[in-house]
Amino acid sequence: MPGKLEGKTAIITGAARGIGLAFARAYIAEGAGVAICDIDIARAETAAMELGDSAIAVKVDVTNKQSIDEAVAKVAGAFGSIDILINNAALFTAAPIVEITEADYRRAFDVNVYGSLFMLQAVAKQMISQGKGGKIINMASQAGRRGEPLVAVYCATKAAIISLTQSAALNLIEHKINVNAIAPGVVDGEHWDGVDAFFAKYENKAPGQKKKEVAATVPFGRMGRAEDLTGMAVFLASSDASYVVAQCYNVDGGQWMS
Ligand SMILES: NC(=O)c1ccc[n+]([C@@H]2O[C@H](COP(=O)([O-])OP(=O)(O)OC[C@H]3O[C@@H](n4cnc5c(N)ncnc54)[C@H](O)[C@@H]3O)[C@@H](O)[C@H]2O)c1
Repeated sequence: MPGKLEGKTAIITGAARGIGLAFARAYIAEGAGVAICDIDIARAETAAMELGDSAIAVKVDVTNKQSIDEAVAKVAGAFGSIDILINNAALFTAAPIVEITEADYRRAFDVNVYGSLFMLQAVAKQMISQGKGGKIINMASQAGRRGEPLVAVYCATKAAIISLTQSAALNLIEHKINVNAIAPGVVDGEHWDGVDAFFAKYENKAPGQKKKEVAATVPFGRMGRAEDLTGMAVFLASSDASYVVAQCYNVDGGQWMS
Protein backbone atom coordinates (compact mmCIF):
# COMPACT_ATOMS: atom_id res chain seq x y z
CA MET A 1 0.00 0.00 0.00
CA PRO A 2 1.44 3.42 -0.89
CA GLY A 3 2.31 5.69 2.02
CA LYS A 4 0.12 8.67 2.89
CA LEU A 5 2.90 11.08 1.87
CA GLU A 6 4.23 9.22 -1.17
CA GLY A 7 6.16 11.56 -3.47
CA LYS A 8 5.83 14.54 -1.08
CA THR A 9 8.74 16.55 0.27
CA ALA A 10 8.93 18.16 3.69
CA ILE A 11 11.03 20.66 5.60
CA ILE A 12 11.07 20.03 9.33
CA THR A 13 12.87 22.62 11.45
CA GLY A 14 14.52 21.55 14.68
CA ALA A 15 14.48 17.96 13.44
CA ALA A 16 17.94 16.97 14.62
CA ARG A 17 16.40 15.52 17.79
CA GLY A 18 13.22 15.05 19.79
CA ILE A 19 9.77 15.51 18.30
CA GLY A 20 11.06 16.86 14.97
CA LEU A 21 13.22 13.77 14.48
CA ALA A 22 10.25 11.49 15.22
CA PHE A 23 8.24 13.46 12.62
CA ALA A 24 11.03 12.98 10.06
CA ARG A 25 11.08 9.23 10.70
CA ALA A 26 7.28 8.99 10.38
CA TYR A 27 7.17 11.05 7.18
CA ILE A 28 9.84 8.93 5.54
CA ALA A 29 7.92 5.78 6.55
CA GLU A 30 4.92 7.29 4.72
CA GLY A 31 6.96 7.82 1.54
CA ALA A 32 8.13 11.46 1.87
CA GLY A 33 11.55 13.01 1.34
CA VAL A 34 12.53 15.06 4.39
CA ALA A 35 14.95 17.94 4.95
CA ILE A 36 16.21 17.84 8.53
CA CYS A 37 16.74 21.57 9.10
CA ASP A 38 18.46 22.55 12.31
CA ILE A 39 20.97 24.98 13.74
CA ASP A 40 22.83 21.93 15.09
CA ILE A 41 24.06 20.75 11.69
CA ALA A 42 26.34 18.01 13.07
CA ARG A 43 23.40 16.33 14.77
CA ALA A 44 21.15 16.94 11.75
CA GLU A 45 23.71 15.20 9.54
CA THR A 46 23.92 12.22 11.88
CA ALA A 47 20.11 11.99 11.89
CA ALA A 48 19.90 12.24 8.09
CA MET A 49 22.53 9.54 7.71
CA GLU A 50 20.56 7.19 9.98
CA LEU A 51 17.31 7.92 8.12
CA GLY A 52 18.84 7.03 4.74
CA ASP A 53 18.43 8.28 1.19
CA SER A 54 15.09 10.02 1.74
CA ALA A 55 16.62 12.48 4.22
CA ILE A 56 18.95 15.43 3.75
CA ALA A 57 20.44 17.68 6.43
CA VAL A 58 20.33 21.44 5.91
CA LYS A 59 21.64 24.04 8.32
CA VAL A 60 19.21 26.79 9.27
CA ASP A 61 19.14 29.41 11.97
CA VAL A 62 15.47 30.34 12.07
CA THR A 63 16.30 33.66 13.75
CA ASN A 64 18.07 34.82 10.59
CA LYS A 65 16.14 35.63 7.40
CA GLN A 66 19.10 35.08 5.11
CA SER A 67 19.71 31.67 6.65
CA ILE A 68 16.00 30.82 6.20
CA ASP A 69 15.95 31.90 2.55
CA GLU A 70 19.15 29.98 1.79
CA ALA A 71 17.85 26.83 3.49
CA VAL A 72 14.51 26.94 1.67
CA ALA A 73 16.27 27.48 -1.69
CA LYS A 74 18.62 24.59 -0.93
CA VAL A 75 15.76 22.21 -0.11
CA ALA A 76 13.74 23.29 -3.17
CA GLY A 77 16.85 22.72 -5.30
CA ALA A 78 17.55 19.30 -3.80
CA PHE A 79 13.96 17.97 -3.92
CA GLY A 80 12.56 19.99 -6.85
CA SER A 81 9.63 21.26 -4.75
CA ILE A 82 8.43 21.67 -1.16
CA ASP A 83 5.02 20.30 -0.19
CA ILE A 84 5.10 20.34 3.62
CA LEU A 85 6.63 22.52 6.34
CA ILE A 86 6.68 21.73 10.04
CA ASN A 87 7.70 24.77 12.09
CA ASN A 88 9.05 22.75 14.98
CA ALA A 89 12.25 24.50 16.18
CA ALA A 90 11.72 26.27 19.50
CA LEU A 91 13.35 27.12 22.79
CA PHE A 92 11.94 26.81 26.30
CA THR A 93 12.63 29.39 28.96
CA ALA A 94 11.28 29.99 32.46
CA ALA A 95 11.66 32.59 35.20
CA PRO A 96 9.51 34.46 37.70
CA ILE A 97 8.11 37.67 36.16
CA VAL A 98 10.49 39.89 38.14
CA GLU A 99 13.50 37.93 36.86
CA ILE A 100 12.71 37.79 33.13
CA THR A 101 15.59 39.31 31.16
CA GLU A 102 15.36 41.17 27.86
CA ALA A 103 17.87 38.76 26.37
CA ASP A 104 15.75 35.72 27.28
CA TYR A 105 12.58 37.37 26.02
CA ARG A 106 14.17 38.32 22.67
CA ARG A 107 15.81 34.93 22.16
CA ALA A 108 12.57 33.03 22.81
CA PHE A 109 10.48 35.28 20.57
CA ASP A 110 13.19 35.22 17.87
CA VAL A 111 13.35 31.42 17.68
CA ASN A 112 9.73 30.54 18.44
CA VAL A 113 7.77 33.34 16.74
CA TYR A 114 10.03 35.18 14.26
CA GLY A 115 11.45 31.83 13.18
CA SER A 116 8.03 30.30 12.58
CA LEU A 117 6.65 33.36 10.77
CA PHE A 118 9.56 33.82 8.39
CA MET A 119 9.99 30.10 7.71
CA LEU A 120 6.28 30.00 6.94
CA GLN A 121 6.60 33.05 4.69
CA ALA A 122 9.57 31.66 2.74
CA VAL A 123 7.96 28.25 2.26
CA ALA A 124 4.57 29.75 1.40
CA LYS A 125 6.21 31.83 -1.36
CA GLN A 126 7.80 28.65 -2.71
CA MET A 127 4.48 26.77 -2.53
CA ILE A 128 2.59 29.60 -4.25
CA SER A 129 5.16 29.63 -7.07
CA GLN A 130 4.75 25.85 -7.47
CA GLY A 131 0.97 26.33 -7.78
CA LYS A 132 -0.09 23.03 -6.20
CA GLY A 133 -0.88 24.05 -2.63
CA GLY A 134 0.81 22.62 0.43
CA LYS A 135 0.56 21.85 4.10
CA ILE A 136 2.09 23.89 6.93
CA ILE A 137 2.08 22.69 10.53
CA ASN A 138 3.14 24.94 13.40
CA MET A 139 4.15 23.49 16.75
CA ALA A 140 2.16 25.23 19.46
CA SER A 141 1.80 23.85 22.99
CA GLN A 142 -0.66 23.51 25.80
CA ALA A 143 1.47 26.38 27.16
CA GLY A 144 -0.13 28.56 24.50
CA ARG A 145 -3.62 27.81 25.85
CA ARG A 146 -3.11 29.42 29.27
CA GLY A 147 -0.53 31.15 31.45
CA GLU A 148 1.81 29.52 33.94
CA PRO A 149 3.38 31.38 36.87
CA LEU A 150 7.02 30.74 35.89
CA VAL A 151 6.63 30.38 32.14
CA ALA A 152 5.29 33.75 30.92
CA VAL A 153 7.59 34.17 27.94
CA TYR A 154 7.38 30.64 26.52
CA CYS A 155 3.60 30.59 27.04
CA ALA A 156 3.30 33.94 25.20
CA THR A 157 5.37 32.63 22.27
CA LYS A 158 3.10 29.60 21.95
CA ALA A 159 -0.08 31.72 22.20
CA ALA A 160 1.41 33.78 19.37
CA ILE A 161 1.87 30.58 17.34
CA ILE A 162 -1.82 29.68 17.73
CA SER A 163 -2.80 33.19 16.58
CA LEU A 164 -0.30 33.17 13.71
CA THR A 165 -1.64 29.81 12.58
CA GLN A 166 -5.16 31.23 12.34
CA SER A 167 -4.18 34.38 10.40
CA ALA A 168 -1.78 32.60 8.04
CA ALA A 169 -4.35 29.88 7.39
CA LEU A 170 -7.05 32.37 6.47
CA ASN A 171 -4.65 34.21 4.17
CA LEU A 172 -3.10 31.18 2.46
CA ILE A 173 -6.05 28.84 1.95
CA GLU A 174 -6.85 30.65 -1.32
CA HIS A 175 -3.60 29.07 -2.58
CA LYS A 176 -4.72 25.66 -1.25
CA ILE A 177 -2.09 25.92 1.47
CA ASN A 178 -3.49 24.46 4.71
CA VAL A 179 -2.01 25.94 7.87
CA ASN A 180 -2.75 24.16 11.16
CA ALA A 181 -1.05 23.59 14.50
CA ILE A 182 -0.40 20.85 17.02
CA ALA A 183 -0.43 21.57 20.75
CA PRO A 184 1.48 18.85 22.61
CA GLY A 185 1.27 18.51 26.37
CA VAL A 186 4.33 17.21 28.20
CA VAL A 187 6.60 15.13 25.98
CA ASP A 188 9.60 13.47 27.57
CA GLY A 189 13.01 14.03 25.99
CA GLU A 190 15.87 16.52 26.03
CA HIS A 191 13.48 19.49 25.93
CA TRP A 192 11.80 18.29 29.12
CA ASP A 193 15.16 17.52 30.74
CA GLY A 194 15.71 21.29 30.41
CA VAL A 195 12.23 22.14 31.71
CA ASP A 196 12.80 19.84 34.69
CA ALA A 197 16.08 21.65 35.42
CA PHE A 198 14.31 25.05 35.38
CA PHE A 199 11.76 23.82 37.92
CA ALA A 200 14.47 22.21 40.03
CA LYS A 201 16.01 25.71 40.25
CA TYR A 202 12.87 27.78 40.82
CA GLU A 203 10.76 25.36 42.86
CA ASN A 204 13.60 23.73 44.73
CA LYS A 205 12.80 20.27 43.41
CA ALA A 206 15.06 17.26 43.07
CA PRO A 207 16.08 16.46 39.47
CA GLY A 208 13.33 14.39 37.84
CA GLN A 209 10.70 15.36 40.42
CA LYS A 210 8.82 17.81 38.18
CA LYS A 211 8.57 15.17 35.45
CA LYS A 212 6.99 12.74 37.92
CA GLU A 213 4.55 15.41 39.09
CA VAL A 214 3.42 16.40 35.59
CA ALA A 215 3.14 12.76 34.50
CA ALA A 216 0.71 12.22 37.38
CA THR A 217 -1.55 15.01 36.02
CA VAL A 218 -1.93 13.48 32.54
CA PRO A 219 -5.28 11.64 32.24
CA PHE A 220 -3.64 9.08 29.91
CA GLY A 221 -1.37 8.14 32.81
CA ARG A 222 2.11 9.11 31.60
CA MET A 223 4.12 11.83 29.89
CA GLY A 224 3.92 11.87 26.10
CA ARG A 225 6.53 10.35 23.82
CA ALA A 226 7.56 11.98 20.54
CA GLU A 227 5.95 9.05 18.70
CA ASP A 228 2.57 9.91 20.25
CA LEU A 229 2.48 13.01 18.02
CA THR A 230 3.41 11.51 14.68
CA GLY A 231 -0.10 10.33 13.74
CA MET A 232 -1.46 13.87 13.90
CA ALA A 233 1.56 15.25 12.00
CA VAL A 234 1.07 12.70 9.21
CA PHE A 235 -2.68 13.37 9.06
CA LEU A 236 -2.27 17.17 8.84
CA ALA A 237 0.32 16.80 6.05
CA SER A 238 -1.80 14.36 4.05
CA SER A 239 -4.61 14.90 1.54
CA ASP A 240 -7.01 13.63 4.26
CA ALA A 241 -6.61 17.07 5.89
CA SER A 242 -7.35 19.22 2.84
CA TYR A 243 -10.54 20.67 4.39
CA VAL A 244 -8.85 21.29 7.77
CA VAL A 245 -7.96 24.98 8.07
CA ALA A 246 -6.69 27.20 10.92
CA GLN A 247 -7.02 24.57 13.67
CA CYS A 248 -4.82 23.78 16.64
CA TYR A 249 -5.10 20.17 17.80
CA ASN A 250 -4.28 19.12 21.35
CA VAL A 251 -2.29 15.89 21.41
CA ASP A 252 -1.64 15.67 25.12
CA GLY A 253 -3.15 12.56 26.68
CA GLY A 254 -6.24 14.51 27.75
CA GLN A 255 -4.62 17.37 29.63
CA TRP A 256 -6.40 20.22 27.90
CA MET A 257 -9.92 20.36 26.48
CA SER A 258 -10.81 23.09 23.99
N1 LIG B 1 8.67 18.45 24.57
C1 LIG B 1 7.52 18.95 25.02
O1 LIG B 1 7.03 18.61 26.13
C2 LIG B 1 6.75 19.94 24.19
C3 LIG B 1 5.49 20.33 24.66
C4 LIG B 1 4.77 21.25 23.91
C5 LIG B 1 5.29 21.75 22.74
N2 LIG B 1 6.52 21.36 22.32
C6 LIG B 1 7.03 21.94 21.08
O2 LIG B 1 7.37 20.91 20.16
C7 LIG B 1 8.51 21.32 19.38
C8 LIG B 1 9.62 20.30 19.48
O3 LIG B 1 9.95 20.10 20.84
P1 LIG B 1 11.12 19.13 21.31
O4 LIG B 1 10.75 18.63 22.66
O5 LIG B 1 11.46 18.14 20.27
O6 LIG B 1 12.31 20.21 21.45
P2 LIG B 1 13.90 20.02 21.49
O7 LIG B 1 14.41 21.11 22.37
O8 LIG B 1 14.26 18.62 21.83
O9 LIG B 1 14.36 20.30 19.97
C9 LIG B 1 14.38 21.58 19.43
C10 LIG B 1 15.29 21.60 18.23
O10 LIG B 1 15.29 22.95 17.69
C11 LIG B 1 16.60 23.27 17.29
N3 LIG B 1 16.78 24.74 17.29
C12 LIG B 1 16.89 25.55 18.36
N4 LIG B 1 17.12 26.81 17.95
C13 LIG B 1 17.13 26.81 16.59
C14 LIG B 1 17.33 27.80 15.61
N5 LIG B 1 17.58 29.09 15.93
N6 LIG B 1 17.26 27.44 14.30
C15 LIG B 1 17.04 26.14 13.96
N7 LIG B 1 16.87 25.15 14.86
C16 LIG B 1 16.92 25.48 16.16
C17 LIG B 1 17.49 22.58 18.33
O11 LIG B 1 18.83 22.44 17.85
C18 LIG B 1 16.75 21.25 18.51
O12 LIG B 1 17.23 20.27 17.61
C19 LIG B 1 8.88 22.72 19.90
O13 LIG B 1 8.21 23.69 19.12
C20 LIG B 1 8.32 22.72 21.30
O14 LIG B 1 8.05 24.04 21.79
C21 LIG B 1 7.27 20.46 23.02
